[in-house]
Amino acid sequence: MDSHIPVLLREVLSFLEPRPGMRILDGTLGLGGHALALLQAAVAAGIPEASLLGLDRDGQALALACRRLLPFGERVQAVRAAFSEAAEILKSRGWERVDFALADVGTSSLQLDSPERGFSFLRDGPLDMRMDQRQEETAERLVNTASFSRLRRILAEWGEEPLAGRIAGAIVEARAREPILTTARLARVVESAYPARRRAAARNHPATRTFQALRMEVNSEVSELKAFLRAVVPNLAPGGRIAVISFHSLEDRLVKYFFRDEARDGLRSPALRVLTAKPVEASPEERAANPRSRSAKLRVAEKL
Ligand SMILES: C[S@@+](CC[C@H](N)C(=O)[O-])C[C@H]1O[C@@H](n2cnc3c(N)ncnc32)[C@H](O)[C@@H]1O
Repeated sequence: MDSHIPVLLREVLSFLEPRPGMRILDGTLGLGGHALALLQAAVAAGIPEASLLGLDRDGQALALACRRLLPFGERVQAVRAAFSEAAEILKSRGWERVDFALADVGTSSLQLDSPERGFSFLRDGPLDMRMDQRQEETAERLVNTASFSRLRRILAEWGEEPLAGRIAGAIVEARAREPILTTARLARVVESAYPARRRAAARNHPATRTFQALRMEVNSEVSELKAFLRAVVPNLAPGGRIAVISFHSLEDRLVKYFFRDEARDGLRSPALRVLTAKPVEASPEERAANPRSRSAKLRVAEKL
């Protein structure tokens, strides 16, 4: 199951400026697609000594990525860790000078395609959605214990779901009859809250936004992304670059404003120069070949 196609790969590589002894941080190793291509690009540019530190909080993904990156031997270090641990890891490994950092946030095909991970309403499985399976909070716990108002807020905020209140109400009602334990049952509950007219007119499955919102909450995705940006920028070498691919407008805005604030001449001198005035999006060819790329937005900034 290592069919994850790295998104915006050519575009990411176009921002890589190979430098002797360069250090690459991949915050979302996933199945190692971007990592492999970045290392290969460094080798092709005459930097065979380039090294890569890869993080992922998904143990399964990390094991697969390590296998794929084996040919690079000790030049690759892979750590099971979340963005919120990145600052500590960079410090403890003496990686306080990173030349290129990447975060490709969101779910991998490994997570989406494995029914037992409970990420997808297209495949029936336990309501799990944890990227890090050591974590206690699961989607099942959230769905069966969160108050109506917390559920409504999660669906409205992370899912931008216009029917957040109706869906939260349907969940509370359904779980009072019997706990909601599977992705298929949750999908049916959400569907039942959708008026038939809206269901017929919708482009996506009615549960799309709800599943996205719950996944973002279970994995604290927005606060994690903030932690990544805060950890990495101070650890970039002068001229080093940070590239972030996001799939949600909230996350894209977060990156945009973070970069903009760090690039502003204010009380302190600016730390970054923004290299992408507008986010880079997938080409029509990539969109056709990989539907996941359709919502991807890449922003890149350079350390001054
Ligand atoms: C879209 S996939 C990355 C795919 C990868 N770029 C590739 O080419 O194979 C995102 C990965 O990031 C991981 N991830 C997401 N948020 C994370 C976080 N806060 N900390 C660590 N890993 C995270 C997920 O577990 C997932 O494996």
